Amino acid sequence: DWRMDSFVESSIQAIREKVGNGKVLLALSGGVDSSVAAGLLSKAIGRQLTCVFVDHGLLRKNEGDEVEAVFGPEGDFDLNFIRVNAQERYYGKLAGVTEPEQKRKIIGEEFIRVFEEEAKKIGAVDFLAQGTIYPDVVESGLGGESAVIKSHHNVGGLPDFVDFKEIIEPLRDLFKDEVRKAGLELGLPAELVFRQPFPGPGLGVRIIGEVTAEKVRIVQDADAIYREEIAKAGLDQEISQYFAALTNMRSVGVMGDERTYDYAVALRAVKTIDFMTAEAAEIPFEVLQKVMSRIINEVKGVNRVFYDLTSKPPGTIELE
Ligand code: XMP
Repeated sequence: DWRMDSFVESSIQAIREKVGNGKVLLALSGGVDSSVAAGLLSKAIGRQLTCVFVDHGLLRKNEGDEVEAVFGPEGDFDLNFIRVNAQERYYGKLAGVTEPEQKRKIIGEEFIRVFEEEAKKIGAVDFLAQGTIYPDVVESGLGGESAVIKSHHNVGGLPDFVDFKEIIEPLRDLFKDEVRKAGLELGLPAELVFRQPFPGPGLGVRIIGEVTAEKVRIVQDADAIYREEIAKAGLDQEISQYFAALTNMRSVGVMGDERTYDYAVALRAVKTIDFMTAEAAEIPFEVLQKVMSRIINEVKGVNRVFYDLTSKPPGTIELE
């Protein structure tokens, strides 16, 4: 695609001119936008770029390692990669908290604290990079992958917790499909470039009620099975967003000749154009049955699986 070739090439030139020999810091979430921004900046300025990736323990199964495989020392990009394993810290802060907005607030604030600590270790930088894309510029709504930092940016003006001189937003003029094309052009893996949206607070809003390490393990394992089966059935590109969530409900079941009292998992899958309204996807019943039986057999602590049929409105896409 000549337009994307020229975008990647011309923005590498523009970044080099703007940055000179300055230092750039980027909060990398592993979502499409911040990943493409990281790839582009890496091509332009290499090790003048430092990416901080905070693993808050609320990512999908193996996601932290996948991000590290692409951007870490074993990957193909030249940059300084810092992974912060903050799982225990987040679980500690979230212990006993059940109110959805309170959970979001804690997760967002903790991100800022962790990022600030890392930024202090790095010292003053010249530029703070952000994966802002054109739709973020025109409507400052949530939904972008680097939404944690974006929403902070949107509500509070420029971040005041990092010592920097200027913001750099290399994707500011691009629509989502153009960002994906640029990502492919830069050599990012297709799974990353075409991945479905994932909320900043992550599994924190897919676990109803209190978040614990055990519940995270359950929802990660159930979700991994669901995604595997949806991909096997060839449905992954036609469903806009799909995931497993953990209800806060336990119920009685039988396993062999034992009585169980375990959690119920809810499967969600929606089709939508703009994420403002959505309809439940019509997944073939045998696919759902296979997912149900694998989750019950393979994930300890689950004895019931529901499929969420609710449209948005009145439901939301996430369960919290
Ligand atoms: P809802 O649940 O509001 O979701 O129907 C609409 C879209 O937004 C995503 N979402 C979030 N993204 N922070 C985010 O970055 C959040 O707190 C958040 N809540 C929902 C959701 O995944 C869906 O794509």
